[in-house]
Amino acid sequence: MSAVPSTVPPTAPPTAARGICVFFTGLSGAGKSTLAAALAAHVETARHRRVTLLDGDVVRTHLSSELGFSRADRDLNIRRIGFVASEVVKHGGLCIVAAIAPYAQARHDARQIVEAFGDFALVHVATSLAVCESRDAKGLYARARRGELAAFTGISDPYEAPTDAEITIDTGSGSVVDALRQLLAHPLLAHLA
Ligand code: ADX
Repeated sequence: MSAVPSTVPPTAPPTAARGICVFFTGLSGAGKSTLAAALAAHVETARHRRVTLLDGDVVRTHLSSELGFSRADRDLNIRRIGFVASEVVKHGGLCIVAAIAPYAQARHDARQIVEAFGDFALVHVATSLAVCESRDAKGLYARARRGELAAFTGISDPYEAPTDAEITIDTGSGSVVDALRQLLAHPLLAHLA
């Protein structure tokens, strides 16, 4: 049996080798998907790093296709996303999530499962309801206002604004480039700049 070396290396890998989940939360139309895609494109181009992008609409097409928008279904959706993110982070990967994730407890659970293996940065895309509704790219706010869409976040369903976000961005004031700069200035994301 070989002897244990006297100089044991530190167990925590350097930041660049650690996995990280960057989790964008905010209202529908806040700009989560746009920022998530911009960050993914930057990292792939500038750092030549592979990225796993879990976008709410795509996750709901594949991983969570049977789920609706009750609290239980939303929580299960975020639990699945958190699990996948933790698997990516476990292997030193970068996982970028864009989901409304309206409930603080579900976001906290996602943070905990990921932080068991690496870093977690919650990004609150805090674009106001008024701006999101004025954009209404999918016409969902109009449908919700007409009462055609039940339990719509911000209109007839809650959004618990985070009090634990590492970064808060309002896309109502500032460009995507500004937002990307703000993201990459955070110590947890600095190695991706
Ligand atoms: S979450 O609450 O479970 O995190 P998720 O991010 O996956 O939501 O999906 C949100 C997307 O589903 C929205 O961008 C919107 O396109 C669509 N959607 C359809 N119905 C609703 C609803 N009732 N509330 C919010 N989003 C809805």
